[in-house]
Amino acid sequence: MLDSECSVKRVMVVVGTRPEIIKMAPLIRALHCSKIPSTFVHCGQHYDYNMSQQFIEDLELPKPDYGYKIKAYTQGTQTARIITHMEHLLKKTSPALVLVEGDTNGVLATALATAKLGIRLGHVEAGLRSFDLRMPEEHNRRLTDHLSNYLFAPTKTAESNLKTEHVWGKIYVTGNTIIDAITQHLPIAERKSKILNSINFEKFALATAHRAENVDNLAVLKGFMEAFAEAPIPVVYPMHPRTKKRLKQNQTYAKIKKTRNLQILPPLGYLDFLVLMKKCEMIVTDSGGIQEEATAPCIRKSVLVIRLSTERPEAVQAGFAEVVGVEKQKILEGMRKTLKHPKQLPTVSPYGDGKAAEKIVGIIKEELAF
Ligand code: UD1
Ligand code: UDP
Repeated sequence: MLDSECSVKRVMVVVGTRPEIIKMAPLIRALHCSKIPSTFVHCGQHYDYNMSQQFIEDLELPKPDYGYKIKAYTQGTQTARIITHMEHLLKKTSPALVLVEGDTNGVLATALATAKLGIRLGHVEAGLRSFDLRMPEEHNRRLTDHLSNYLFAPTKTAESNLKTEHVWGKIYVTGNTIIDAITQHLPIAERKSKILNSINFEKFALATAHRAENVDNLAVLKGFMEAFAEAPIPVVYPMHPRTKKRLKQNQTYAKIKKTRNLQILPPLGYLDFLVLMKKCEMIVTDSGGIQEEATAPCIRKSVLVIRLSTERPEAVQAGFAEVVGVEKQKILEGMRKTLKHPKQLPTVSPYGDGKAAEKIVGIIKEELAF
């Protein structure tokens, strides 16, 4: 246990997957700068080095005070195991406030454990809605929002979703900490990353795909791989372990790896990925965070969202993102159109000015009288 863990009033910051580490990093730093005592917990949803520890190192975060690894096969088991160990940890440490970020199973599990013990909960990136109930993320985010005492909505649209649903907690519009993270790290990435030395193409599109409703559907996964292989520009694709596992299960990974127009990489560290985002001609993705990052003034890239919906309509309205669906021909059409008619993209992000973490910490200070 940390020094006098129970007697000192602390904020517990909980992460579990790579986007949570990235988006919580600016908050961990801002809490430290404000001298608010905090505990850093990795709840264990992502466990491989290149999905967890690599980000803690890239972002120069302290080692988690408590870390777990959950290797579970079903969504339910994963969620249940995280509830069990988070309940134990919360009982042991009694934080004044728990902060979670986003829409993962680890977020919902932590929110449930926190609420059952009557501990206050703050939800960073509250209020996003895809209205696509096939997605576990939609359930996780809605339920967490309804359990939270403090809801840090990144935009007015997110705030409006929360008001429509009559959530119980207090809502604050803060911007998204991803803009803080990218602003703080791109200059370091450009100095330190050597990733461009290992990229086979001068000009390329950057692709990622990992959503369960996409890559766990064999027809959709096949369409994605064919679209990337036949794309009008070479594609660089750092592959998520879920996707690699599915391709291996279908005995197609070895063949796809040999495709000339497509360079498959392992999941990359944040600094390398930022450099690829900065350098690419366009982004093709089903990621949530990448839709936001593309709008950062230091990145400004067109994004084709290979999904049926998005919980980031602000990126679409601002002209950065287009939801093209999941069919091969639609993806190829979208890529051709983006290359032929490059857009003049806005110079401001709808996700804030890079000061979201500072704002959130200011609110915490006031609300909890730190
Ligand atoms: C999870 C989140 C998703 C988020 C993504 C970030 C949920 C429901 N989904 O999806 O919202 O966008 O994280 O990347 O919480 N695996 C490994 N090593 C790891 C992690 C995962 O091999 O370190 C493989 C395992 O086969 C695992 C599978 O990926 O079963 C899925 O991992 P999981 O954390 O359940 O979901 P993600 O697809 O990563
Ligand atoms: N990312 C990364 N390396 C990669 C792929 C993504 O660092 O190989 C970063 C990316 O910059 C973004 C975050 O991971 O900040 C997005 O994670 P992911 O797409 O897995 O999750 P989502 O945002 O969809 O929840």
